[in-house]
Amino acid sequence: MKRDFLTGEELGAFELERLLDRAADLKAGHDPARKGGRLGAESLAGRSVALVFERPSTRTRISFDVGVYELGGHPVVLRGDEMQLSRGESIADTAQVLSRMVDAVVIRSGSHQRVVELAAAADVPVINALTPLHHPCQAIADLLTLRERFGDLSGLRLAYVGDGNNVARSLAILGELAGVEVVVAAPADYQLEEAHGVKLTNDPRAAADGADALYTDVWVSMGDEDEERRRKDLAPFRLDADLVAAAKDSAIVLHCLPAHPGDEITAEVLYGPQSAVFDQAENRLHAQKALLELLLG
Ligand code: CP
Ligand code: NVA
Repeated sequence: MKRDFLTGEELGAFELERLLDRAADLKAGHDPARKGGRLGAESLAGRSVALVFERPSTRTRISFDVGVYELGGHPVVLRGDEMQLSRGESIADTAQVLSRMVDAVVIRSGSHQRVVELAAAADVPVINALTPLHHPCQAIADLLTLRERFGDLSGLRLAYVGDGNNVARSLAILGELAGVEVVVAAPADYQLEEAHGVKLTNDPRAAADGADALYTDVWVSMGDEDEERRRKDLAPFRLDADLVAAAKDSAIVLHCLPAHPGDEITAEVLYGPQSAVFDQAENRLHAQKALLELLLG
């Protein structure tokens, strides 16, 4: 039975913990099968993974491409506009064809429903590389980053401040599964419609108070309209030095990137001493390698 990774809800708590263990080992080079460099796990030897990008990407695209290569597999990177999908071929037919030729499909799309349809029609695992609703690959890298900074995840307090978007939703789902106390602070019109077991508030200061990690994301996600209104409405939720001061002294600052310093986060905080954003970006690679092994193992 093939397994997909579309929202993160496909994982159990123990499985998530093992996935993070494996990601940490891959990062540290503790793989017993390792031969040299970052190569050597060979867990994807002889296997191909299609990486379909219907939306722009820097981190996700590179980390999956390099990750498949480092596991001994073959990444096939495809832009949506160069596939027949862009000329009306159906998602279901595309899923059938991909299933005959590759061992897994990673897809970034402007429609979550399209990814669900692809997964339903495919015989191979499908991984969500971001939709407007979910970004679960980001969340597993975020948990890896928290774990390497703090050790045990259980009981950590993470305050997400800003737009209640795909990144916030995935953090809520996977953070809750990992035992992290997630609080999402957003204006009422931008808040998650479902709590997913975490705390929702419209008070950024209360969310940041005593937090171990402060997290934000762009105010205008891919596909969002009315940029000016969003900037105005979300301005009180900027991650700035005052919010950092409300968190613990040991708190780290997270952002999935790309960032817009001056909008959702000040440059002082983004590039300040508490920022872990580039570790977080690197951890996309390690977490996704562990995910590929789990789904293709
Ligand atoms: N964080 C993230 O998914 O970045 P990209 O859009 O560059 O892939
Ligand atoms: N919320 C952002 C995340 C980008 C990685 C978007 O969907 O555009």
